[in-house]
Amino acid sequence: MSITPSMRQLIQALPKAELHLHIEGSLEPELMFRLAKKNNVAIPYDTIEDVRRAYNFNNLQSFLDIYYAGANVLQTQDDFYDLTWAYIEKCRENNIVHTEIFFDPQTHTERGVPFSAVIGGIKAALDDARSQHGITSCIIMCFLRHLSEADAFATLEEALPYKDDIIGVGLDSSEVGNPPSKFAGVFKAAAAHGFKLVAHAGEEADFSYINEALDLLNIHRIDHGVQSIHSDALMLRLKDNQMPLTVCPNSNIELCVFDHYSEHNIKELLSYGLNVSVHSDDPAYFKGYMNQNFFNLCEHLPMTEEEVITLVKNGFRSAFIDDAAKAQYLAQVDAAAA
Ligand code: HPA
Ligand code: ZN
Repeated sequence: MSITPSMRQLIQALPKAELHLHIEGSLEPELMFRLAKKNNVAIPYDTIEDVRRAYNFNNLQSFLDIYYAGANVLQTQDDFYDLTWAYIEKCRENNIVHTEIFFDPQTHTERGVPFSAVIGGIKAALDDARSQHGITSCIIMCFLRHLSEADAFATLEEALPYKDDIIGVGLDSSEVGNPPSKFAGVFKAAAAHGFKLVAHAGEEADFSYINEALDLLNIHRIDHGVQSIHSDALMLRLKDNQMPLTVCPNSNIELCVFDHYSEHNIKELLSYGLNVSVHSDDPAYFKGYMNQNFFNLCEHLPMTEEEVITLVKNGFRSAFIDDAAKAQYLAQVDAAAA
């Protein structure tokens, strides 16, 4: 299949909401090299080409090992500003007008980088994005699920002084063997503090992790969730309450969740009536940003313009913004589609 020029134009023209983006996963090799040199951090690559060759994954863990190694070059508040600002430039290229970004504080505080430097750099760049480009945003702090719940509780405590800058908490990293139940206590505590709740579930692990995330963590959105297709009862539940699924097609292909793009189940999820939207996860590692995810979907699946528009609208419907802002963004989508 090949993507038509009019579909390509539509995808480019639609304003979009990014709801599943790990800011550390937007670290492009060029910036990695620059920061490695500036901060005197050793990286296991000699050239940009070496880096790109290393981005060849066979599952989630093979990616995470390289992703965490890359994050070591991020040391100062300015580094986090530069990282986030580079991502904002990608937002402009991709017509992303609202972005809700994940960060992994434990990846940095474990190395002695202060929490304040991480959140301070990200926040300053997002403030500039709003004032200079009108891009709206919020920040979601993820707990690393390969670490203990006690570590997550300590991270939650550390985040409290920055509560006004962090809209929600999430759960990421190595999924299989680290089920949602491990974090039921800390999610309950986060909810009591007023944080919104999201969790990666049903990316690599089976659909029972999605049920657990709904039952035990009381999440407002599911990140990935593509394994839900293996349970009729869960599909019905997700449809009935229009639970958002932030699906990341390029990520699923690069991490071998599906063997080939043509096997991705997003069309099935959508036609069943689930609230599915498309996002980019770790775009520097997964060969492309938001628009590239849509282009690839259209190259490999018989996507209709209507489906593309629905996926884009669902992104705004599922965003952590008020109803007036949603209505405004949805009207912008309609205008661009027309
Ligand atoms: N899954 C889990 N953890 C992650 C991912 C992902 O796709 N990206 C960054 N951390
Ligand atoms: Zn993710």
